[in-house]
Amino acid sequence: MQIVRNSEELARARTAVGGRLALVPTMGALHPGHMALVEEAKRRADTVAASIFVNPAQFGPTEDFSRYPRREGEDARMLEDTGCDLLWMPSVADIYPQGFSTTVHVASVSRRWEGEARPGHFNGVATVVAKLLISMRPDVALFGEKDFQQLAVIRRLAADLNIPTEIVAVPTVREEDGLALSSRNAYLSEEERARAVALPRALEYARAAIGEGKPVQMVLDTARKSLIDAGFSRIDYFVLVDASTLEPLDAPAGEMRLIAAAVVGTTRLIDNLAL
Ligand code: PAJ
Repeated sequence: MQIVRNSEELARARTAVGGRLALVPTMGALHPGHMALVEEAKRRADTVAASIFVNPAQFGPTEDFSRYPRREGEDARMLEDTGCDLLWMPSVADIYPQGFSTTVHVASVSRRWEGEARPGHFNGVATVVAKLLISMRPDVALFGEKDFQQLAVIRRLAADLNIPTEIVAVPTVREEDGLALSSRNAYLSEEERARAVALPRALEYARAAIGEGKPVQMVLDTARKSLIDAGFSRIDYFVLVDASTLEPLDAPAGEMRLIAAAVVGTTRLIDNLAL
């Protein structure tokens, strides 16, 4: 696996790629969820690239940018073992050189939920993903359904800016008990980890209950209450939304998604489920 850091090295490596190129953008602290993206990338391209960049622009001033887990060596080994060909690890100065002044703002799908709970977050995501896609020009880029609203923002971004990369979604990889894999799970104490499973359980409950025709608001209230009872300290949202517009639904209609964000201990977890 070739490792490149600055834009000159990247440009040279990109020119050397023949055939279809796939990109898996990440912030590192890699786990089997990320590797599922690499595996899917191998099926869809001749050369697989990954990027690791902990993007300061998508963290709020009180968020975990400085303590976000950084494990370069381990990450590189894991990528190489999974069959990644090229790893791009830019520095903050490579991505945001002095004088950098552009922000990509995707309206509509970014407004609610994560957009409300984390002001500026999706501007940071959209700006960096636009840069990654424009710099590397992959034929296909892979993103996890784990971050369902992020996926919608990136689809909109690529379509609106005529970025010719195909955006592919990969299903969420979970622990055996149902907890979605996340780099942030590393923050959980043993006790919090045990409580955290209430989040996928509440989503499963809501999916089944809505599927049986129970009233949506009643089901969502019960699900929220189950999280508080399990020891979650805050629920940012636990809602049923239209899967493409991300607008809330109070009755089943078309393609739907349950999406949720809640805090256990000091860790904010997000998850979602298709209906
Ligand atoms: P990061 O949180 O590192 O996630 C990188 C990619 O892995 C995202 O597309 C995310 O949805 C996917 N992913 C994370 N956990 C997953 C799981 N359990 N199953 C399947 N896929 C999973 O998301 C980001 O980084 C950043 O916002 C980024 C897009 C790289 C822009 O900075």
